[in-house]
Amino acid sequence: MPPSRGLRIGAASVASALIVGSLAWLWGSSLLPETYSAMEMGHVDHGQDGVLATAGATSSGHAGHALDGAGAAGSRSVETLRADVNRPADVTVALTAREETFRLASGREVAGYTLNGTSPGPVIRATVGQLVEVRLVNESVADGITLHWHGVDVPNAEDGVAGVTQDAVPPGAEHVYRFVVDQAGTFWYHSHQMSHEQVARGLLGALVVLPAAADDAVDVVALAHLYDGMRTINGREADTQVEVSPGSRARVRVINTDNGPTPVWVAGAPARLVAVDGTDVTGGTPIGDAAVLVTAGGRADLEVTAPDDGSPVRVQVGAASVVLGSASFDAPSLPRPTSTVDLLTYGTPAPIGFDVEHPDRTFRYDIGRRPGFVDGRPGFYWTINGHLWPDVPMFEVAEGDVVRMTIANRSGDVHPMHLHGHHAVVLSRDGVAATGSPWWVDSLNVADGETYEIAFLADNPGIWMDHCHNLPHAREGLVAHLAYEGVTTPFAVGAATGNTPE
Ligand code: C2O
Ligand code: CU
Repeated sequence: MPPSRGLRIGAASVASALIVGSLAWLWGSSLLPETYSAMEMGHVDHGQDGVLATAGATSSGHAGHALDGAGAAGSRSVETLRADVNRPADVTVALTAREETFRLASGREVAGYTLNGTSPGPVIRATVGQLVEVRLVNESVADGITLHWHGVDVPNAEDGVAGVTQDAVPPGAEHVYRFVVDQAGTFWYHSHQMSHEQVARGLLGALVVLPAAADDAVDVVALAHLYDGMRTINGREADTQVEVSPGSRARVRVINTDNGPTPVWVAGAPARLVAVDGTDVTGGTPIGDAAVLVTAGGRADLEVTAPDDGSPVRVQVGAASVVLGSASFDAPSLPRPTSTVDLLTYGTPAPIGFDVEHPDRTFRYDIGRRPGFVDGRPGFYWTINGHLWPDVPMFEVAEGDVVRMTIANRSGDVHPMHLHGHHAVVLSRDGVAATGSPWWVDSLNVADGETYEIAFLADNPGIWMDHCHNLPHAREGLVAHLAYEGVTTPFAVGAATGNTPE
């Protein structure tokens, strides 16, 4: 017998009440408190001990679980994790941030932010082993600012993450950063307060750490940035011309400060890839007719030898370029090569310094996407291990652990994954083992459908962000943290705190 009309209407309204009721619950339960700590966010993931984690497996944890050792005797605040306070600085830099309209080299106006009146800010240069001290003054950036030293494994207190390692610096205030640069290479700095907005609009610059024994190559910084849709190198839309005499070498340090990957290729001379993300590549051979893909947030150093006949060389970084030359800078451009250097096989193997075959912890970082609510806003959000932000993992490690992490992306988009405070080595991609030079990264381009296995040594205690460097994606919740047992933070994020690292 068919149900009566009245029953059907009754069932339909019960069903819609249930839907509305559960949407209201999802909405309500997604609202964020006015103040909350990275320590209380999401769930602690202790990883798996010495075995390779399988999809979706996290060994413990539930929302609101506090970190082991937090508050216990022997716990340390992130504020104590700093460079030797008694050691004098070798390099001192003063940076004043302003919210203002500035001009690109072409004269085009950009409404954004400057450091010492320019964007990008000044190039900071130091020699490996030196202690760098930067005094950051916020003259007029209303939202507050910080500086993060992207790729430099600084002590945690110097990491510049608003609400995790410090409070955002309000207008009229200042903050001093001190750290030893213990690795020669190409790095950069940028604000980590409202970073999806402040980085795009100019609060950034290059940091170059030179080796102890000076190289005689001409040192060229090529910081790529998109200002209001304009592709620039070092703030110039037109070719950046650099004097390199015939037969001489140049080291071109490409820094990708944008949200997506950029190809780099060289026309007019052979080139070698000599470093990735601030670490030298071993045994790199000429790249021939291939492009190097530079991850968002990542760096690639190319060594180019200027031709003996004095003809110019074009280093093309996406749609912008650096031209190396002497008499003439009239270098023809080449279309983007169809092949790309594969860092899984480029160069020759070398020791990596710890035993990746016997990890102390293994973690999964599965990236997906689904509809839901974050802070009461409906959207199509990124997920980590199936959960929406802020119910994301807090990967917990102990100092000295060898850690393996599998990053799998089934989200429909590419994600440049960036772990603060550590360099990780790539072990495999889609099950194919790395066989080239150790491929050390701080920013890894994980394309849709790819799975990478990486490993790192937990040798820098603190609470570290581990997030997507497509900064609007971080804003949309693609952020987790790596925390060391017993480390706590007194800082907090949330509307009442003024700290918004993403
Ligand atoms: Cu370049 Cu979390 O940042
Ligand atoms: Cu992303």
